[in-house]
Amino acid sequence: MSSVFNDAIASFLHPIRDLLEDESVSEIMINGPKEIFIEKGGLVFKSENTFPDEEALISAMRSVAQSVGRTIDEDNPRLDARLPNGSRIHVVLPPMARNGTTVAIRKFSKDELTLKDLISFGSLSQTAARFLDVCVHLGRNIVVSGGTGSGKTTMLNVLGGRIPKTQRLIIIEDAAELQIHADHVVQFETRKHDPSRGIEGVTIRDLVVSAMRLRPDRIIVGEVRSDEALDLIQVMNTGHDGSMGTVHANNPVEACTRLETLCLMGETKIPPDAIRKMVGSAMQLVVQCSRYHDGGRRTSHISEVLGVDKYGDYICRDIFRWVQRGKDPETGKFIGEMVPCNYVPSFFEEIMVNQLPFPKSNFIAPEWAIKLFNA
Ligand SMILES: Nc1ncnc2c1ncn2[C@@H]1O[C@H](COP(=O)(O)OP(=O)(O)OP(=O)(O)O)[C@@H](O)[C@H]1O
Ligand SMILES: [Mg+2]
Repeated sequence: MSSVFNDAIASFLHPIRDLLEDESVSEIMINGPKEIFIEKGGLVFKSENTFPDEEALISAMRSVAQSVGRTIDEDNPRLDARLPNGSRIHVVLPPMARNGTTVAIRKFSKDELTLKDLISFGSLSQTAARFLDVCVHLGRNIVVSGGTGSGKTTMLNVLGGRIPKTQRLIIIEDAAELQIHADHVVQFETRKHDPSRGIEGVTIRDLVVSAMRLRPDRIIVGEVRSDEALDLIQVMNTGHDGSMGTVHANNPVEACTRLETLCLMGETKIPPDAIRKMVGSAMQLVVQCSRYHDGGRRTSHISEVLGVDKYGDYICRDIFRWVQRGKDPETGKFIGEMVPCNYVPSFFEEIMVNQLPFPKSNFIAPEWAIKLFNA
């Protein structure tokens, strides 16, 4: 642990040292000093570990905050930070946190995940992974959608890693999380408004505006959760093809409506109907991440957005879908596979023109799946 934290912090964090070091633990959730839960293999378990008391827990969090140049105290009762080893930490102090100091530490796997890893985890089929690669290569705008902890950031990281190395990427995030290795990457992080220290806030919105003036080939917004949605949509509609972002939604259509709602949160004079059309044309591909009850994180849908119909509804067509076919009686793990949905995307010609090795037959659904879709 000393490689992650200095010795002083390591001693404060001693009560959870084994959890921090255990690579099979992906998340540590502390609900006050005496209640610690962990996530392992996608499932949540109660841990035996505890902190001696509230003071010990707060001291540990104070020292963690200090180590990343931040403060957590009565005036700043929340901390959102990235630890030196890449883990993400969020802390809320009492009295807002009724259970006592509440913490979540999200650990990322040591090795950066790739498309191949997602295939080996069963999160993605080989064909679907190749299709995503084709889409990134062709510069389709991609929105990764999913619930909390469903694997959105991981997916965005993997997709970002497939962007042709010569392109200039501008990455914008609230807390820097993405680690996209390319030759030409500019990474921006927002700054919190802190009137007590005379610090002006810099929002994702501000940074998207700056990014537009910095000759980007592609703009990536780590998480779209406010009125910057409108800027991202405009970026996507104004020739910065291949831009990407993540949004919190449970299915591809909901991803569209969520972005629309976020666009309308800002002070905009653009009428809602026009915004809906803008969202419909900006979003080209939705990659839906889902966390299933067996603990598995899978790509449940890869869908194309084709705009809005005459009733104002988003037109969304599934290209690939994960279909459950059973359950392993011993492990309880879901058995299933990702299948094509018999839909050839509107940009298939582009795939052919660019001579990308992705034949039309890859979109044909197997017989059993067609029966299931029609049932
Ligand atoms: N396909 C996958 N298979 C197994 N584990 C995964 C997969 N994708 C992500 N994970 C793990 O799941 C955890 C959550 O992933 P990630 O941070 O990408 O989710 P998220 O949707 O961005 O979460 P949040 O909503 O909190 O931002 C991480 O520990 C990550 O390593
Ligand atoms: Mg995330």
